[in-house]
Amino acid sequence: MRIVINGLIAATCGFALILAICACGSTAALAQDSDVYHPASEEHPQSGKQDFMNHCAPCHGTDGKGNGPELKVLPDIHPSDLTNITLKNGGVFPRQKVVDMVDGRKAIPSHKRFDMPFWGVNFQQEGKEFTPESEAKAKARIDALVAYVESIQRQ
Ligand code: HEC
Repeated sequence: MRIVINGLIAATCGFALILAICACGSTAALAQDSDVYHPASEEHPQSGKQDFMNHCAPCHGTDGKGNGPELKVLPDIHPSDLTNITLKNGGVFPRQKVVDMVDGRKAIPSHKRFDMPFWGVNFQQEGKEFTPESEAKAKARIDALVAYVESIQRQ
């Protein structure tokens, strides 16, 4: 019994160590990519906005109202006005719904999609296997983007 418990403690410690290493590893990976994008933080409060201007404004417009330059190339798509999501939802910003919409992967089974890219997939490294780190990174970017979309809501 004693041995089992000791073993358990050892295993738990080992696991904690691995977790700690993983946490450091992903922070380092984020730091490396810092010239590409910044996860939202006190130092980089504009990160969601930057991502928006790079990846969303081509279709949704720099003002988010749905009239980006990409429409000249893809005239058949109708990007939504992203500034009235709160208005359309009775005055409450449906954060989780917007996160799911931007991520896109939950929408696949409904076959309803879509003239919009699946950002939950796009934001992970192209051609590489998805990992918990790339998943966490994609989620952080989507969260920052959705916070930006929330900040441009009309009253
Ligand atoms: C290639 C053009 C394109 C790009 C780039 C794009 N979108 Fe869209 N988006 C659309 C279209 C078109 C729709 C309308 C829904 C549909 O047709 O399926 C839409 C819908 C949405 C919706 C749903 C709005 C609602 O009222 O239900 C959200 C939220 C959204 N986009 C956010 C984003 C964000 C954030 C980005 C950048 C990461 C982005 N979009 C990039 C084309 C685009």
